[in-house]
Amino acid sequence: MFPRIWALLCLVGAAAQAVDASRGIQPDEYRLRRGKVREILAKDKGILVLYGASEDERGDLRSRFFQEANFYYLTGWTEPGARLLLTATDEYLFLPPRNETKERYTGRKVAPSDANATSFTGFTDVLPNGRFEVTFFQKLETTEKLYALISVNRQSPLRRLVGQRPIENAAPLIFPLRQVKSPAELALIQRSIDVSIDAHRAAWNRATPGLFEYQVSATMTNVYFEAGCERSSYPPIVGSGPNSTILHYNRNDRRMDAGEVLLMDVAGECSMYAADITRTIPVNGKFSDREREIYNIVLGAQRAAIAAVKPGMRLAKEGENSLFQIAVEYMNQHGKSLKGEPIGKYFTHGLGHHVGLEVHDPGLPATPLVPGNVITIEPGLYIPEEGIGVRIEDMVLVTEDGSKVLTAALPADPEAIEQALHARKR
Ligand code: GLY
Ligand code: MN
Ligand code: MN
Repeated sequence: MFPRIWALLCLVGAAAQAVDASRGIQPDEYRLRRGKVREILAKDKGILVLYGASEDERGDLRSRFFQEANFYYLTGWTEPGARLLLTATDEYLFLPPRNETKERYTGRKVAPSDANATSFTGFTDVLPNGRFEVTFFQKLETTEKLYALISVNRQSPLRRLVGQRPIENAAPLIFPLRQVKSPAELALIQRSIDVSIDAHRAAWNRATPGLFEYQVSATMTNVYFEAGCERSSYPPIVGSGPNSTILHYNRNDRRMDAGEVLLMDVAGECSMYAADITRTIPVNGKFSDREREIYNIVLGAQRAAIAAVKPGMRLAKEGENSLFQIAVEYMNQHGKSLKGEPIGKYFTHGLGHHVGLEVHDPGLPATPLVPGNVITIEPGLYIPEEGIGVRIEDMVLVTEDGSKVLTAALPADPEAIEQALHARKR
């Protein structure tokens, strides 16, 4: 009995620690990504160094350890303190040595000396961090370009190692890859979306005059934590009445009342991939005439922008092929402020952004969209003097000839929302 249980436990441990096959992305896909980076390194005789997140760098007891997104993208490795060295021909993963004191707190980690470190990591060359410097300097001798993510603070150890030698920004090598989602990534994103949609539906079922915003937030986060998601993609934004006009409001401590809207920008991150969804509903189940007017302007602007999404279009506020301009022009043609001005002046943020391993994934608004991009389209109107804020945020996949709304299962039509609120179970 005992040995069989022990064998089973070992198997479970192996599955949990192995590079992310358990999360739906196979080791081969991570290898393919590294291969694409190495092709560029081969062209310009470069090497690339990335530092993974370390266990204690934040000194923050509130949040658990999370791998740095770029490191994760290229390795699938979720344990702390690792380093990656890529050359045109080689891939090295460096791991910290066993630390039994730390392991007493946070559990057993894979060590470079473990017999199965190679199969766990998907790397042929797994070396101890103690070998990093000597390997790095050896590769550096025949290197023309040294790439690292210089914008990330944790790269400073490399700066200390190389002194005045220039460090090239690795972002242009990695970000374009991250912006085009693979089928396996799309499946993970869709799961994050699906459980986040369940969270919104649970909120619609619960929201009612007299409830506090944090109660709606708790209902929503509970849905995706219950489904096994690791964290919220961002702090839940649950704003009623005047709070609906504050873009990233997250105190969530106000009591909501009849005659107000409730803006919920809430979504979960599951298997490392973020969702990002906003809906705005009437607290008492029915939009007032002015709320409906404003809501329909935002919805019309969103639909106009989504209808225009295709390769070559851009999220940028200005210039050619601007989706933002399509949204704001729709607003200005369809509504006025109380003073009679075009209502678009109350649309006070960007139209959208890329989403993936991070809720704000890399991607400049000016860059033309390409197939495989996953973006949000999230117009909003925020009118403090009327106490009305409306944002509608959906996630959209750019396809070869247009787009697919990944969040379409959650209605945005005001009548459909009212119907759902009317039918809610109490
Ligand atoms: N939830 C943050 C955003 O919509 O960008
Ligand atoms: Mn967003
Ligand atoms: Mn959002």
